[in-house]
Amino acid sequence: MTTIAFLLNGTPVRVSGDNPTRTLLDWLREERGLTGTKEGCNEGDCGACTVMVTDDAGTRALNSCILLLPQLHGRAVRTVEGLTGPKGEMHPVQTAMVEKHGSQCGFCTPGFVMSLAVAQKTGAVDHDDYLAGNLCRCTGYAPIIRAAEAVAGTEAPGWVNDDPGKVRGERAPYAPSSSDELAAWYEGHPDAVLIAGATDVGLWVTKELRDLPEVAFLHACTDLQRIERTGDSIRIGAGATIAALRKAVAETHPTFAELLRRFASEQVRGAATIGGNIANGSPIGDAPPALIAMGATLHLRKGDTRREMPLEDFFIDYRKQDRAKGEFVEAVTISASVPDLACYKLSKRFDQDISAVCGCFNVTREAGVVTAARIAFGGMAGTPKRAAAVEAVLVGQPWTVATVEAAVAAFAQDFTPMSDMRASAAYRLEAAGNMLLRYFHATEGRAVSVLEVSA
Ligand SMILES: Cc1cc2nc3c(=O)[nH]c(=O)nc-3n(C[C@H](O)[C@H](O)[C@H](O)COP(=O)(O)OP(=O)(O)OC[C@H]3O[C@@H](n4cnc5c(N)ncnc54)[C@H](O)[C@@H]3O)c2cc1C
Ligand code: FES
Ligand code: FES
Repeated sequence: MTTIAFLLNGTPVRVSGDNPTRTLLDWLREERGLTGTKEGCNEGDCGACTVMVTDDAGTRALNSCILLLPQLHGRAVRTVEGLTGPKGEMHPVQTAMVEKHGSQCGFCTPGFVMSLAVAQKTGAVDHDDYLAGNLCRCTGYAPIIRAAEAVAGTEAPGWVNDDPGKVRGERAPYAPSSSDELAAWYEGHPDAVLIAGATDVGLWVTKELRDLPEVAFLHACTDLQRIERTGDSIRIGAGATIAALRKAVAETHPTFAELLRRFASEQVRGAATIGGNIANGSPIGDAPPALIAMGATLHLRKGDTRREMPLEDFFIDYRKQDRAKGEFVEAVTISASVPDLACYKLSKRFDQDISAVCGCFNVTREAGVVTAARIAFGGMAGTPKRAAAVEAVLVGQPWTVATVEAAVAAFAQDFTPMSDMRASAAYRLEAAGNMLLRYFHATEGRAVSVLEVSA
């Protein structure tokens, strides 16, 4: 029997690993009676199930509804029941929520309290940002933000700070501990499902009720999580989380980092990996258009054989990627500096929403003339895709409104987008053209974001 060992509210627990796709939320509620952690959407969207998870990388808020039990091995988990002190004293964020009237029906409240407690512990102060993954329908956010402000900058209580980074235990089940080990194992088990952050795979389980065949978890392959700068490039390991990547590129690639800020929510970014975002081949994944516009190179590995390709070549057709059985994404490399890059995400909600259109632009000019152009979109085709016809109109031409308007007309050659609940085909096409115009105006130094415009 395989066993998963972790710390739950300060107490060591051992759980059978026989069902590796059981979610933490189900286990907490059904096996432990810890019903303070709520089930709202069961797909990572509402934050009602938020728990605090601590490991060597620090403390994070994660959604327990799409967190699978083997992902917890060796880590410390704290639920809302574990927030109160040993003598029953309230955690400061609980007190603040009461004093600021931060709760009405209360269903969302445990999740908010957990996000607030993690923010207090980690020193996060951008309340809008770290609460974007918590949905409240009754109270309204103002009292909750007041509670957040009341605890910002205060010390987390000792009992919460005591969670260790690593819990001693035997080897993690279903989890190779290095990319070498993964490569050898996966070559021999090519039909297995790889699970990195489980922010996509978790939904196959909770929403599609799929039984997965053999699985392997990638979170113990710490060598896959490195983000390293060598010379002019940055190599991003497939296992790097979106949160870690956002931090790593904040100074060097600010527009990419800003795009990643709007990638899902704090709880999802803390689990989701860049490798998962690429490998799932979604036409609306946010990272691929940005990476393609930067001219990223993808690194694949099967056993001891490695190959690399421009990222755009990886996406062959809708959900069809150039990846052999038993082959996995090892890393992606980008240039250490991409000064002309701009990324625009268009979604119905500003935070925590999937893109209707994601446009990324990297147009190089010399003496007012376009010398190179890389423009890539998500949400415009069955794959993340370059706007080759638009690029061709631009290159060699003066960087003027007239050139840009001529290029806008070429979008219809590059893309035949679809209509769905996020946007109509006509809207998508028009939005893509407007994004190019927006990029042009931004390069001319004009304010282009509604957040920058003041009356
Ligand atoms: C609430 C919510 C909001 C979201 N919002 C966004 C958003 O705004 N933008 C966005 O782009 N995405 C979003 N997503 C989707 C998801 O978070 C991303 O696609 C994420 O990057 C997937 O990474 P993961 O590590 O969780 O992948 P997993 O779910 O673990 O895996 C996804 C797929 O990739 C495969 N895989 C994982 N790692 C590798 C590897 N190294 N090599 C080969 N195959 C691999 C898996 O087998 C699986 O097929 C959202 C998801 C949720 C639940
Ligand atoms: S139940 Fe909604 S995020 Fe988990
Ligand atoms: S208090 Fe009811 S959903 Fe937030």
